[in-house]
Amino acid sequence: MAAVDVVIMAAGKGTRMKSKLPKVLHRLADRALLAHVVDTASTLKPRRVVVITGHGATEVEAAITRHSGAKADFDLGFARQEPQLGTGHAVQQALPHLDDEAVVVVLSGDVPLTQGDTLQALVDACGGENLALLTLALDNPSGYGRIVRGPDDAVLAIVEQKDATEAQRRIQEIYSGIMAVPVARLRPWLARLDNQNAQAEYYLTDIVKMAVADGVRVVAHKISDELQVAGVNSPVQLAELERAYQRRRAHALMEQGVRLADPARFDVRGSLQCGQDVFIDVNCVFEGQVTLGEGVRIGANCVIANASIAAGAVIHPFTHIDGEKAGVSVGQGALIGPFARLRPGAQLGDEVHIGNFVEVKNSTLAKGAKANHLAYLGDATVGERVNYGAGSITANYDGANKHRTVIGDDVHVGSNCVLIAPIKLGAGGTVGGGSTLTKDTPAGALSVARGRQVSIPDWQRPVKGAK
Ligand code: UD1
Ligand code: CA
Repeated sequence: MAAVDVVIMAAGKGTRMKSKLPKVLHRLADRALLAHVVDTASTLKPRRVVVITGHGATEVEAAITRHSGAKADFDLGFARQEPQLGTGHAVQQALPHLDDEAVVVVLSGDVPLTQGDTLQALVDACGGENLALLTLALDNPSGYGRIVRGPDDAVLAIVEQKDATEAQRRIQEIYSGIMAVPVARLRPWLARLDNQNAQAEYYLTDIVKMAVADGVRVVAHKISDELQVAGVNSPVQLAELERAYQRRRAHALMEQGVRLADPARFDVRGSLQCGQDVFIDVNCVFEGQVTLGEGVRIGANCVIANASIAAGAVIHPFTHIDGEKAGVSVGQGALIGPFARLRPGAQLGDEVHIGNFVEVKNSTLAKGAKANHLAYLGDATVGERVNYGAGSITANYDGANKHRTVIGDDVHVGSNCVLIAPIKLGAGGTVGGGSTLTKDTPAGALSVARGRQVSIPDWQRPVKGAK
């Protein structure tokens, strides 16, 4: 098998996006359009991927280098195309990067939903010697290049919409913009392109006629899934493709047994692994790497990013979890929310309860610990069965440094306490409500740190107007 090189055209302006951001950097499922294309291309195990940049070149190159530069097992390169004189001219810019022994697959940076197996089938159709075109029949082919076939059905040419005759415009089979061709064949054809056409552009599609003239077989690999060749030219099309992509993800999860209350109100922007009998209510968003164990239930309107949620845990509605780089872990049978917020480094043990308006950051809560209402735990180590009262907070930040709070097993912290870190509360202790603690507390003790209650008998409140 010949090695595969990939060229991705991404120099166009994307005027209809009406945005300062280069079109190929607009995001679908929280990944740049071009990143989708690069990721799909990588399934071909290419030797090299060359991205043709022009409009916003520096920004596009930096974004894609960040996305796949370091981790890629292919060689990522860029070729600038300035000015943009057409798709043929675009591919010409990549020629110095391409290997004569290779087959090159030509893709567009604004067509994000092509599947890897489709590209592989196209490479197979090329077979190291043919010109293979990805085509499909459309009810409304307007705007696309048409596949012109001879009486024996052999492909003769691609004619662009603007150059097509009335009869040619009635052809429904269109060129998707994706082809696979041996580099050694492509090179001389590109050198012979001209711009004598309605748009005065160098058309890549003109190589089809040249292939026919040179006796090279042109194979049309026809698919029926329009989504795979759909391009993004406007915000409306971007939103349509986002929905289509999400529908595809939702269906794949449901095939695995995940129950979604409504697949139309469900968004995955990363990877979501689910055990058996997971239920996800409406309007949930999953970002980064998320794992849901067996029987996990996610309530409506949750946003969950970079988290691992163990079997049987229940995340009640309106909970926000974002583990960022450090991650969040939720133990088996834990109950979280409604309206809870778990931040990076929250590590919750089995059967932990986190209630409404409780924020947890960089803290470990051991089995059975509870913080049920209106509380903050930051940089804390919380023992088993601790009960952390409403309105209590760890004062973990002195304005310059963060300090730890350590709460021993079975401690009860009353309501409205301020634990000024660094501080350690001994196991089994009790902290009276309203305490501001600055010193460690002994195990088993009741610790109270607040103004003592005073009652003055027969107190007369001031009266308006009295002297
Ligand atoms: C192209 C095909 C057409 C096909 C259609 C599928 C040609 C001449 N026509 O038409 O047959 O049906 O795609 O969508 O190839 N680009 C550059 N540099 C350029 C011009 C374009 O990088 O100088 C990039 C664009 O950014 C885009 C891609 O190439 O990502 C396709 O360009 P576009 O102008 O959309 O091609 P179409 O005219 O739609
Ligand atoms: Ca286009």
